[in-house]
Amino acid sequence: MPALFVTFEGPEGCGKTTQVRLLAEWLSARGYDVLATREPGGTRIGEQIRAILLNPEHTEMVPAAEILLFSAARAQIVHEVIIPHLRRGGIVLCDRFADSTLAYQGYGHSLDLNVLRIITAFATAGLTPDITFYLDIPVEEGLRRKAQPGRAEWNRLDQRELAYHQRVQEGYRQLIAAEPARWVLIDARGSIEAVHMQVVREMERRLAVQQGTAR
Ligand code: TYD
Repeated sequence: MPALFVTFEGPEGCGKTTQVRLLAEWLSARGYDVLATREPGGTRIGEQIRAILLNPEHTEMVPAAEILLFSAARAQIVHEVIIPHLRRGGIVLCDRFADSTLAYQGYGHSLDLNVLRIITAFATAGLTPDITFYLDIPVEEGLRRKAQPGRAEWNRLDQRELAYHQRVQEGYRQLIAAEPARWVLIDARGSIEAVHMQVVREMERRLAVQQGTAR
């Protein structure tokens, strides 16, 4: 069984959460020991930190506090959940990870990327994803999807202006360009099923490579 750490990234409303769930179902139906989780959150402590971070009333939160809270939640999930599961030879799927900090806090807030990389490396004990799916969707379309009634809750971070979200997306583009082998760019404008099929095709390829059966 291959230990594999897979993360999903993308702008608001890109459909990551649904795709993580579908991929987890697909993998477990094939006998893989898969664990799906999300950031911030995924642990008892992390979910409490998530509530602080996303509370729309916390308008006074300063960027440094925001980063350290995201990083505290991340340290907890990495040590409590992700590393133990990988050590058992399992597959971990994570809805957002350290790239979100670089994109949202680094590019979005124009904070020093080198400082963020140091904090992140400390929080994750240097753990990095094997594969990162980027669900690509125009910022406006994602925000529109998210604002629809009955969809995910509107949170403090969604309240930011369009220009902020555009800086985040541009940040992701730079992260992808810097590490093209890790990132898999997926066009997320299609149907849920069409996006899922793209994700599955790439997963099959990576699993085959890892198991040494690739031709
Ligand atoms: P969530 O409701 O999970 O949004 P989404 O479904 O889009 O992932 O809220 C997570 C929010 O936190 C999202 O706006 C991105 C933001 N975020 C950061 O700003 N930095 C981070 O390091 C992480 C993990 C998330």
